[in-house]
Amino acid sequence: MEPITTDDGSPTFRSVKYDEPYHSKSGAIEECFEKYINPMKIWEKENPVIYDVCSGMGYNAAAAIDAFLEKGHGIMTIYLYENDPEIIRKSLEINPAFKHYFIIKELVNTYFELELIELIKEINGKTIHLILRVGDARELIPKEIERADFVFFDPFSPKKHPEMWELQFFKDIFSKTKHGGVLATYSYARIVRDNLTAAGFVVSTGPTIGRRSPSTIARKE
Ligand SMILES: C[S@@+](CC[C@H](N)C(=O)[O-])C[C@H]1O[C@@H](n2cnc3c(N)ncnc32)[C@H](O)[C@@H]1O
Repeated sequence: MEPITTDDGSPTFRSVKYDEPYHSKSGAIEECFEKYINPMKIWEKENPVIYDVCSGMGYNAAAAIDAFLEKGHGIMTIYLYENDPEIIRKSLEINPAFKHYFIIKELVNTYFELELIELIKEINGKTIHLILRVGDARELIPKEIERADFVFFDPFSPKKHPEMWELQFFKDIFSKTKHGGVLATYSYARIVRDNLTAAGFVVSTGPTIGRRSPSTIARKE
């Protein structure tokens, strides 16, 4: 894993295994808000439940926490799915400019020091409930009981990590998404749109930021 600084000044790493950065080089923090949080308007849903698939250092979850604490209502529950403890631990070494990144660090410390996977924080009358699921998201999600309003789908690219973008996984996520729920992903590859559609989602184009092609928004109607 090699450290890099993205164009908005936020830190990330390059995966040697997948030969790809963990975030867009144009800006790791910008990518979280522009491709996931803002198009989904997570703050408009009371008591939102989020699946953060391939949560890595928890940037997408941290962006959701910042937006929810500023504008949201009730209890926000985020399930973070990540199979690599090394990248989870990296969050303790970095200081990306999220207002509440300390909550991600607290979750990670809770996991490594106390072997607990759950953290509940009460802030300004709102509640953040985080559940860290360490393992293969493709095995964990079908077993999940609580269904999601929002899914942040952020594996390495379909070219480098094709097994994460297969139809069966999208079908499993679809069955765990509530009606009216939304999945967002940075990729707009044809295979991604086709598999999301075949799984039952209604697919549309998301914002174009940092990369040449737009991102993808998929709704369960
Ligand atoms: C593009 S990075 C995501 C970055 C992340 N969203 C963040 O904010 O740091 C892809 C992540 O998927 C993880 N991953 C790869 N295979 C996985 C699997 N089968 N289940 C869960 N996570 C996986 C990798 O370890 C890596 O952290």
